[in-house]
Amino acid sequence: MKRFAVFGNPIKHSKSPIIHKLFAKQTGILQKYTKICVPIDNFHEKLLNFFKNGGNGANITIPFKKKAYKLCNTFTERAKYSGVVNTIKIMKSQEILGDNTDGIGLLQDLKNLKFIHPKSKILLIGAGGAAQGIIYSLIKFGCNITIINRTYQNAKNIIKYFHNIKNLNCIELQHFSKNLHNQLQYNLIINATSSSLKGNIPNISPLIIKSNIFYYDLFYDISLTPFLKWCRFHGAKKISDGIGMLIEQAAYSFYLWHGIMPNTKIIIQKFKKIY
Ligand code: ATR
Repeated sequence: MKRFAVFGNPIKHSKSPIIHKLFAKQTGILQKYTKICVPIDNFHEKLLNFFKNGGNGANITIPFKKKAYKLCNTFTERAKYSGVVNTIKIMKSQEILGDNTDGIGLLQDLKNLKFIHPKSKILLIGAGGAAQGIIYSLIKFGCNITIINRTYQNAKNIIKYFHNIKNLNCIELQHFSKNLHNQLQYNLIINATSSSLKGNIPNISPLIIKSNIFYYDLFYDISLTPFLKWCRFHGAKKISDGIGMLIEQAAYSFYLWHGIMPNTKIIIQKFKKIY
């Protein structure tokens, strides 16, 4: 039986093993999928050991996605341009193939939700690996992205990483807040910060909340994430957490490994909570 695992830290609450079990049941493909918590400074060794011991592929989550990129020696196009890897497949030639299914998974979920169209103007909050991993797919779809981040330099680094491409820019948070009346042309606001992990929200004015804007949090939890609670409190009507993205990105990983695309709609319905 082929063996896969998700590597991260923390990993206890990961839903990936349950999702992959449902995919396996649905498609009749046998696979073993476990979760592995990795000490922060021991990622390379743990992952390579897993492959040496017969592992066929892996998912990588917080905080190892940029490290995973460095470990791969061949890439799908979307991983190559993102510089971030969340899916690995060991090829017959023993090459380590890196893919990024986060961006395409997010895009698919946003399409399912009707939160996006090719001309959408997106405000992306955050400039870590999670933000970097989704930019390529959204820009390729045609969207325009503005990044704001607590540390302006990290936002500028992302712009530089993408070679100052058209349709991607960043604004300093202070400047953004002072000129809010000019800023609210966005259709969709995405929280890609890891603030939810610690129960926090990014420090932004509630004036960004309007009833006709869509709000999406890449994170998910058993109840509304702190960011989405805050959005709703200030009057947001159209909100979603990242559970659909999690399932869609898992489906693209499953497809990379087995060549079969699971039916995600049924599984999203099963997981989605009505808040
Ligand atoms: P990841 O690679 O998983 O995205 P990361 O590289 O640690 O994780 O990046 C986390 C992102 O969340 C960053 O944009 C970070 O802002 P900084 O660049 O200023 O560090 C952002 N972030 C984390 N906690 C935050 C908080 N409490 N408020 C605002 N932004 C926060």
